[in-house]
Amino acid sequence: MSRFSEPQDPVFQALNSSVSFDYRLAPYDIEQSRAHVRMLGRSGVIPEADAAEIERGLELVQREIDDDSFEVKPGDEDVHMAIERRVTELIGPVGGKMHTARSRNDQVATDVTLFVRAHALRARDAILGLMGVLETLAERHIDWPMPGYTHLQRAQPVYLSHHLLAYFWKLRRDFHRFGFVLSTTDELPLGAGALAGVNFSTDRMSVAQDLGFPAIAENSIDAVSNRDFVIDYVSAAATCATHLSQLGAEIVLWSSEEFRFCEVSDAFASGSSIMPQKKNPDAAELLRAKAPRVAAHLVGLHGVLHGLPLTYNKDLQEDKEHLFDAVDTLELALAAATGVLRDIRFNRERLAEAASDEFLAATDIADMLVTRGVPFREAHGIVAGIVREALESGRSLSDFSDDELRGISEQLVPGFHELLGERAWLESKVSEGGTALSRVKEQLAQARHVLEEASA
Ligand code: ARG
Repeated sequence: MSRFSEPQDPVFQALNSSVSFDYRLAPYDIEQSRAHVRMLGRSGVIPEADAAEIERGLELVQREIDDDSFEVKPGDEDVHMAIERRVTELIGPVGGKMHTARSRNDQVATDVTLFVRAHALRARDAILGLMGVLETLAERHIDWPMPGYTHLQRAQPVYLSHHLLAYFWKLRRDFHRFGFVLSTTDELPLGAGALAGVNFSTDRMSVAQDLGFPAIAENSIDAVSNRDFVIDYVSAAATCATHLSQLGAEIVLWSSEEFRFCEVSDAFASGSSIMPQKKNPDAAELLRAKAPRVAAHLVGLHGVLHGLPLTYNKDLQEDKEHLFDAVDTLELALAAATGVLRDIRFNRERLAEAASDEFLAATDIADMLVTRGVPFREAHGIVAGIVREALESGRSLSDFSDDELRGISEQLVPGFHELLGERAWLESKVSEGGTALSRVKEQLAQARHVLEEASA
């Protein structure tokens, strides 16, 4: 029997059906149904023998899913109905008992929680892998000078290792963000029923333990309406994808003929259909372009959730495609970034040449004046004047004579030419976290420590 006397309109079915995309929740749905019926049997809500029979049915369905023989039927609105329908076909009417003391509302919340938890763990593994590659790259290029930039203008020289490790620490924060996602997915929604709880004395904690949750959601109304953890995952994914886009953008720039700082491997590049000389860093370009897509999913999710009255509303079905595409995009981007960096080659000469621009010593000259008692603001002005004079007369800094310098400031001589001659602009950055080699070595040791701790 059905409450309805008219069949569903095909247009409504097309709008309402989610099985085409939520089918990928099937393994989680089966896992939770198994834990659920085991508990129903243990608690005496259904006979133990029925519970065992339903578990057998669920196993059979899992096997069909594994070998791709599972058939979705036109009437299957979503993955939950498809699986229950198939279990009942396989084991008979007893299959109808598996939905006792459960609603699709707590069921879907549970599937999505399990899915997000699993993928937060995967993201953490992938991030650690990428951090490991960055650490190795930094070791290999520990003392390769390069220009550091602000506003994409040469600013102060740094070591390439230092620059690469900057991404290591960004990713380490991403790793923590996904750790937070683990903490917001650690309460089991199942058992909340449609919204108010169920009419049976169930044992939710035992289901939680079975499924690996440390706790159960305290409030059934919150449990079925909560999708915060989806936002948390996609938010972490958006930030991580943004970091990868920054990395991608630098690789694109550095691969250009104008920079020639690096070359990506053939495995992550393509040629041109018309210009035989070209090698395009496509993978890095796509890293750059994928980030806004993930960020858009975050915005989309906020759109789905905002203003929703409690508790379950069909709007919540729209969480999935945002989530799934964010997961797929991030996992692919992390794998691609790891692959690109694993085989990238840097050009030592080009980097060094760009880093030997004398103007990069401007801060050091100002600081020399500071050590001689000149207030920094004044020192900054003095050096800016020299740079301007040099640019206007087409000279480099070392072309200035001692007399000329003395005319500008008595404090410049001696020291000015000595400082330029030493080329010690990198090694002068001795503060903690700075680019002096001893500091980068400390940083590398910290990075290794982080990796060891995370994989312990
Ligand atoms: N396909 C639905 C979703 O993804 C499952 C829950 C349906 N619940 C309901 N009361 N119609 O949200």
